Amino acid sequence: MVLTLSTIPTVPKPFLKWAGGKNQLIEQINNFFPNELFNGSIKRYIEPFIGGGAVFFYVAHKYDIQELFISDINAELVIAYKTIQYHVDDLIEILDKITTKYLSFDESEKSKYYYQTRTHFNSRKKSLNLDNYHFEWLERTAQIIFLNKTCFNGLFRVNSKGDFNVPAGIYKKPSIYDPKNLKSVAKILQNTKICHGDFTEYESFIDDQTFVYFDPPYRPISNTSKFTSYSQPSFNDSEQLRLRDYFKKLDNKGALIMLSNSDPKNENINDNFFEDAYGGYKIERVRATRNINSNALKRNSINELLIMNY
Ligand SMILES: C[S@@+](CC[C@H](N)C(=O)[O-])C[C@H]1O[C@@H](n2cnc3c(N)ncnc32)[C@H](O)[C@@H]1O
Repeated sequence: MVLTLSTIPTVPKPFLKWAGGKNQLIEQINNFFPNELFNGSIKRYIEPFIGGGAVFFYVAHKYDIQELFISDINAELVIAYKTIQYHVDDLIEILDKITTKYLSFDESEKSKYYYQTRTHFNSRKKSLNLDNYHFEWLERTAQIIFLNKTCFNGLFRVNSKGDFNVPAGIYKKPSIYDPKNLKSVAKILQNTKICHGDFTEYESFIDDQTFVYFDPPYRPISNTSKFTSYSQPSFNDSEQLRLRDYFKKLDNKGALIMLSNSDPKNENINDNFFEDAYGGYKIERVRATRNINSNALKRNSINELLIMNY
């Protein structure tokens, strides 16, 4: 299959299910974007905590922006984005083979195949050089998409050794990938700089014609929890404040900035962490349903914060 450059009719969707994904909030977030994005005076869009990319795909599809930049600290995610950027047709071929095989299996064969793939995925991790493209990235990207869509609850989680450790889910006919969507994603990525690293990585590119959207991991409710569901060291209060300092630095450079986070007042009405940290900036609340939560009773409607310097 060859990637055509015809216009993309629908907004590309995340190709992975990602904890904290903003799919369901995107229209609400759009209502708070800066006017400069609507009137075409933003030249550069930067999203440093890209995750599944719901906001990025929406923005890149809807608005005319010359330069797009995405990054994440999760190397597997960056491998997947880079693979789709340059090798989407080969990736689709591999996914097609994997999916056809998986769907032909009965329940116990499906589970066996899942665990074989997971073991293979984990065993190759250390031999990969994450800096330079290697043909093995193709197989790895196909595997992470397959594992993400067939694992229990659909998420990416690794243990302290860095091994993907989610058990198999039970699905009859899961939707593993959509070739049209992957091509739309690839088309957008042609014009995107992708990098692996900390959220401060793109600092030198940020000026007064830049719009930056930050969607960091949620602030852990208890500061003692060591790992978030992404299994990076927890994005605790000191990380949240490091990000706040960076936010201020970019504000001083004249960039337009939006940051989202979960509202601690969902749990404790007296928790003023973000009001204190972002005093003087605009703070809005939007309603969301939390999707990935091990406690089914807590899958309810909650507030999310949007913090803006405009
Ligand atoms: C809430 S998720 C982003 C979700 C995304 N907006 C979406 O719609 O899927 C946060 C992301 O931040 C990444 N992350 C955590 N710490 C980071 C850091 N210090 N620098 C850059 N990215 C980081 C995680 O790997 C994760 O992908």
